[in-house]
Amino acid sequence: MLKITSFVCAMCLVIPTASFAEQSVNGQDFINLFEKLSGKQPGIRKGHAKGVCAVGTFTPNQAAKQYSISPLFNAPSKTNIRFSMGGGNPHADETSRSPRGVGVQFVLENGDVHNIAGLSTPVFAGKSPEAFFGLLSTLVPDEKTGQIDYAKVKAYREQNPSTLGQFNWLQSHNPPASYVSSRYFGVHTFYMVDEKGAKHAFRWTMVPEEPELVLTEEQMKTFPKSFLAHRLEVDLAKGKVHYRFQAELAEPGDALTDPSVQWPADRRTIELGKLTIESTGESGCDLTNYDPNLLSKGFMPSDDKVLKLRSTAYAISFAKRLTGQ
Ligand code: HEM
Repeated sequence: MLKITSFVCAMCLVIPTASFAEQSVNGQDFINLFEKLSGKQPGIRKGHAKGVCAVGTFTPNQAAKQYSISPLFNAPSKTNIRFSMGGGNPHADETSRSPRGVGVQFVLENGDVHNIAGLSTPVFAGKSPEAFFGLLSTLVPDEKTGQIDYAKVKAYREQNPSTLGQFNWLQSHNPPASYVSSRYFGVHTFYMVDEKGAKHAFRWTMVPEEPELVLTEEQMKTFPKSFLAHRLEVDLAKGKVHYRFQAELAEPGDALTDPSVQWPADRRTIELGKLTIESTGESGCDLTNYDPNLLSKGFMPSDDKVLKLRSTAYAISFAKRLTGQ
């Protein structure tokens, strides 16, 4: 009797399901998939492959000290910055409706570092690593035709609504005209820990002091596929660029572990400080790993599974690119 039961169950496990079942995925699975989508690209980042370095200074707002004991708020820190195009293609089309990224490594007075790495979109393309992995898997071209099956991509999005928010946002917002004319969002929830040990859930945003500029429909058709690195040089030759580094504070009921959900717009926002971008950084960010879980004391990551998985994926990508793979 027992044997029959286990036989039936074993059969259940191997019966293929009609739709896209969620499976657990890890950092290595993502690296394999990125290499399938964009080719091996030895020595290059497996995600956000195309990018440019910059350097600047962060000047903290003293009032932020009441939320966190981080030394980030004790004194100004040098920053090592990288702006990038989402995806693993080192020749990505910069007129396309895809996310732009920013990585900032703050080098603190005491020598510690604190990283952030965010996107130009307020939400991520999936509530979990599995949802995002499933979406990317539908973008792998068919082996026989070499074509992407866009009907499959659309069907996946419809069956997995958490992958729709970022897509819809990108359809309704033209791409940035410059890396420094875009707002950037941390997307995940983090915590600031104050001197009493209390934790304050927040999401960070980098808001440019100058107006945000996007490409017009005409520019999206006529601009070269690569213009952002040159545009950054032109913008910084005119003068330093200032960003407000802000934290939106969570209220009860806000999604703390789902980066595909935006919080309501009326959340209390506090100023963490000002980030001044001073010049381009030549190759100064090439050897940086902007792992977003590398935080200074006084900050903590949330239990967001996408955030957790990023550390492993970035470490594998970092190790591979350092060793020319
Ligand atoms: C499962 C989800 C994700 C995976 C597997 C993933 C994977 C990767 C990998 C492998 C890299 C290259 C790392 C390196 O070589 O240093 C990368 C870079 C990057 N990712 Fe992600 N990522 C994920 C989610 C996110 C999210 C949610 C954000 C933003 C909130 C983000 C923003 C960035 C940025 C800005 C970079 C470029 C950092 C740099 O300039 O070095 N990623 N990602």
